Parts: sequence; structure tokens; C-alpha cells
Amino acid sequence: MVTATAQPLLIPYPRSIEMREGYFALTAKTGIINLSDKNNARLLKHYIEEDININLHEQRGDNNIFLITNRKLKESLGAEGYRMNISADSIVIEGAENAGVFYGIQTLRQLAAQNRLAIPCMEIFDKPEYEWRDFMLDEARHFKGKVVVKQLLEEMAYLKMNKFHWHLTDDQGWRIEIEKYPRLTQIGAYRDSTQIGGWNSPLYDVNIHGGYYTREDIREIVDFAAERHIEIVPEIEMPGHTSAAIAAYPELGSLKTPPTVATYFNPTWGVFNVADERVIQFIQDVFDEIFDLFPSRYIHIGGDEVHPESWEANSDISRFMEEKNLDNYSEVQMLFTNRVASLIHSKGRTMIGWNDIMGKNIHEWADSDNESTHALAPYAVVQFWKGDTALIAEALKQGHRVINSSHRDTYLDYNYTKIPLKKAYDFSPFPKGIDRKYKPLLLGSGCQMWSEWIPRIEDMQRQVFPRIAAYAESGWTIENKKNFTRFSTSLSQILIPRWKQKNIAWHKESTPQAE
Ligand code: ACM
Repeated sequence: MVTATAQPLLIPYPRSIEMREGYFALTAKTGIINLSDKNNARLLKHYIEEDININLHEQRGDNNIFLITNRKLKESLGAEGYRMNISADSIVIEGAENAGVFYGIQTLRQLAAQNRLAIPCMEIFDKPEYEWRDFMLDEARHFKGKVVVKQLLEEMAYLKMNKFHWHLTDDQGWRIEIEKYPRLTQIGAYRDSTQIGGWNSPLYDVNIHGGYYTREDIREIVDFAAERHIEIVPEIEMPGHTSAAIAAYPELGSLKTPPTVATYFNPTWGVFNVADERVIQFIQDVFDEIFDLFPSRYIHIGGDEVHPESWEANSDISRFMEEKNLDNYSEVQMLFTNRVASLIHSKGRTMIGWNDIMGKNIHEWADSDNESTHALAPYAVVQFWKGDTALIAEALKQGHRVINSSHRDTYLDYNYTKIPLKKAYDFSPFPKGIDRKYKPLLLGSGCQMWSEWIPRIEDMQRQVFPRIAAYAESGWTIENKKNFTRFSTSLSQILIPRWKQKNIAWHKESTPQAE
């Protein structure tokens, strides 16, 4: 029996909760009074029916849930905050924006899941600590498809995550239809075999693997995400990790012998010939279609792990370096990146790239004198994944906005020995030792599901769940309100039963209380 004084179990945990006497009875006679957008009311009804099998009234009932978007609350709640007042005869959820009301609905769902028909009276004030709370899915290495993506978006929404970073192209596959370049998917979306068993394994699964999203699929998923206040940030990799595109259009590549769609997973030498104007035209054309399909403010260009070997033997690149007076390949990449950044910027969008785009040596295989003296365009957003934390400080000092996706802390492809649940939970998007004055530029964090070694959906789910819940709380909940014991209890009482019901696999060993 839940008493009125017991603190509710919520992930991510809200900023403040004050318990009150009494209960709100949630029944089929409870009404929804909607002063927010239609979607919020529709989804509240849908969720409560799906979660606890109660069909709410769409008009005034015996007691009522008010959904209110009230712009006057902007100053206290920001764009994503909400307040919720649960009393014996009403639940009032208010946000300054529709997103805030939507997040209040997510909190209500979790309260309903633990209390069923009698929700304790309380007042909640809540808003996120970080504006960027992302989950990344790599579908280039293993295509998962629409049903899986929608299920992930639904779980993200339940956890108040707001950016779906969609890694759609890489050496091993191109997963989005581009009308002007049909071979990208006719050829680039398929490979004839796949390395299995780990990075240096000689073993291959000799079946064809492939798949891609049509324009119609993309629109459907973008709309589904938007209803849930999730922005989809598409990632189109360049200039490296591009073997699949080059296999489809060999003139884009730097080597005389074009690569095939890669069947193994170490980074390959498939790199665009960035000194060739046909490459720039290709990028412009592809982005025109990307801009049309994705309303997102942000477009990700990857930019990581460019192996310079394929540029070394290319006379266009040598000429380009001479003309532009460039000392090394990092500078070649920097000029290219800034050109793409300006192209994206000119369309009113913002470019994001992995922190390789800063032009620093972050790789074991890079030459020590291969750093760029040219600076990255200041409006580019840097997603930090590799190297010393000092690189985050440097990016912030240069005025870049930064997303912290440190691989040691946030890579979901790492096993649970490398990143146990507790380590994922303890991760703070704001790194230690960096001046707090940079907080406004540190947008938040991402967690990344790279998919080289997860051919099956269950393999993917076991890597993602339950750690995604830990990252969701790291991104939303203010540091001094985090508590791993409470989080673990909430996980076993709220989320695990939900995942069970949804047939979502999770990593059982990391959640001993669950069984
Ligand atoms: C990355 O993991 N190559 C961004």
C-alpha cells in the first residue's frame, strides 16, 4: 500500500516534489480538459489506455485532468519544464510550451503505473538541466527498420529524451533514399557479407545484409518523433566513412580503385575526394533533399576518423593543398568542413560534427604533426567523443556549443564491464574541472548505440536497456537530486515491468533487483 508520504518513483527524477494529503482516483469517468495542443490530449488518452487500460473521457468527467499551455510560465519553466498539481478532484499539468505539458504527461504515466487507480496528491515543479538529451542509433552497420525505431522513440519519450541522432550512412551501408542519386540505395544499401565475432575476427556471415528508408518512411518517422517532441538529427557522414556512397558513385572517391560497400568494421579508406567540385555538388544535392525531409535545426556531418592514406596518392588533393597553402590533411579536412558548415548555415540550419572536426590529433594512428592551424567555423556544434577533456574546454573557449558523448562514459556498444549501469548513471554531461561559466554552451549529452556487433534486435536492446534510463536521468535531473539507490528501485518497479510488457529485452545482470 502506498502511503501519502512515500516519495514517488520517477525516472528522470523531477526537480521538486511536495506530497499532499489525499488521492486522485483515475477511472473511466476521469475527463481530459485540453487547453494545450491536440496531440497532447490524444497521446494522454492513448498512453493511459495502453499503460493501464483506462479509457479517459474527452470531455469534463467526474474528476479531470487539465492540460494547459501557458506562455506566461516561460520564465519559470523554460521551453520544456512543467508543473503538475494533483489534488483530490483534479490534475493540472501546465507548461509554457506544448513540450512541457508532454513531459508532465510522461510523469503522470509513471505515477499511474505505480499507483494504478489512486494517485497520491502532490505538487511537482520540473524542468531539465540540459536542453540536449540524445540517443543515437547507428543503422548503417545493421539496419533495424521502422518498427524498431518507433519503439525506441516511444521509450525515449517516456524518459523525456528529446533528440534522436540517426546515423544513416557509413562505410557499410547508405540507409536513406535520395531521389537524385538512386544508386546510393540500389547499391549502397546492400553488402554481400558481414564480419562477425569482433574487430579482428576473420569470420564472416555470408548472407546479404541491407535495407533503407524511403522518403515516405522518413516523413512518417519524423512526424511520429515530432508528436513526441523529439527532434531527429540525421547524420550523413563525410568526408570519411563513405565507402557505401563511393561504391555507388565511384567519382566521389579519392582512390583509383573504388571501394565496395564495406563488409568489415575497422574504419576504411573510403574517403571523399574533397578537392573535386563534383563532391561538393553531390553534398549540396543530398542536403537539399535532407533539408526537405528533416525539419531539424541540426544536421550532423560525422567528420570522424578520416584516414589520410587515401588522400596521399591523389593528385587533386596535392594540387588543392598547394593552391590553398595547406600544410597537412587536417587542414584539408578543416577547409572542407567549414565549406559544408557554411552551406548548412546558409539554409538556416546548424552543423554538428564529432570532435575530430576541431582538427586536433585524437587518434593513435594520426601523425603528430597533422593538426590544423585553421579554426573551425564558430557556429559549428562539436560532439565530443574522443580525446582529453581539455579538448572540451578548448572548444568552449572558442565559443563552440558542445555535446558530451565521451566514449568512455556513453558508448552503448561497450559491454557492461566497461560501462556498468552505475558508471552510466554517474556520468555528468558537464565535465569536472571546466569553468561553470561555460554551462550555457554545454548543450548536454548523447548516448550512442553503434551497431557493428548487434545484428539482432534483442542484442541491440540489451545494450540500450537499462543504461538509456541512466543517461536520461543524467541529462534531465539536477546533480544534487541524483540518487542511484532510488534510481535502481524505480528501474525495477517502473521500467522493467514496462519493458517486459513491451517485449523489450534488457540486460538482466545489471539490474539484480528486477528478477
Ligand atoms: C565514432 O565513434 N567514430 C564517433
